[in-house]
Amino acid sequence: MTGGRVLILAGTGMLSEVAEVLAREGWHVVLPSRRYSPIAVPETRPGVAALRALRPPGHVRQATGGSTDRQGRAIWVEASWDRPRELARKAEAALGGPADLLVAWVHDQYRRSVMGAIEKLLTEDAPVVEVRAVESGGLLVEPEPLLVTHPTQLVLLGTASENDPGRSLAHGEIAGGVMAAVRRAIEGHPTSLHQVGLTRPLVR
Ligand SMILES: NC(=O)c1ccc[n+]([C@@H]2O[C@H](COP(=O)([O-])OP(=O)(O)OC[C@H]3O[C@@H](n4cnc5c(N)ncnc54)[C@H](OP(=O)(O)O)[C@@H]3O)[C@@H](O)[C@H]2O)c1
Repeated sequence: MTGGRVLILAGTGMLSEVAEVLAREGWHVVLPSRRYSPIAVPETRPGVAALRALRPPGHVRQATGGSTDRQGRAIWVEASWDRPRELARKAEAALGGPADLLVAWVHDQYRRSVMGAIEKLLTEDAPVVEVRAVESGGLLVEPEPLLVTHPTQLVLLGTASENDPGRSLAHGEIAGGVMAAVRRAIEGHPTSLHQVGLTRPLVR
């Protein structure tokens, strides 16, 4: 599946590469967050980057120069997890139709309200990728997927890198793990849990 609609919750932080890759592959990407933070795509004209910061909420970025001929795009909408119904309403308008994929990394205290509010925006069988971080001590509160009727790739982030247990997970390790889960979701895999990094406490 390519070229569908994808809603990414918290897609302007460490998941911005995921948003960029999907837009390049032809997806219509919707990114609700509080601050305007467009995904990085190659500029076609010099000077455009300087103008980007002046663009208003809802501005549409065209993702160009990807590996396929399909042209995706990313739309940022100003929304906060504090107001989940408003977030859902704005995201629905920006999606322009039911979402074929959800990628979410929402702080625990907002997780239920936000995921609950946006569930109605998904197609009946839309896969979900949810990113969760283990608490200190390697524990995860409520590890089960929230949207039980949707096949969910749960990405569980450990506290240390597999490559170097002496340090935390690097940005690239997180983005790579999430992107791998997105691929599995798009391929139609059933619900499963994937751990990125080690869950044992850091030992120095
Ligand atoms: N996707 C992520 O990057 C993410 C998600 C959850 C947790 N974390 C954890 O947070 C730590 C700090 O990283 P960070 O500074 O990048 O994370 P952050 O401040 O939690 O922001 C991460 C993403 O979530 C969005 N976000 C945060 N609070 C929001 C809210 N109330 N409503 C809507 N969107 C919201 C941010 O966009 P705005 O600030 O513009 O709203 C951004 O896209 C990291 O150690 C990471 O483990 C990261």
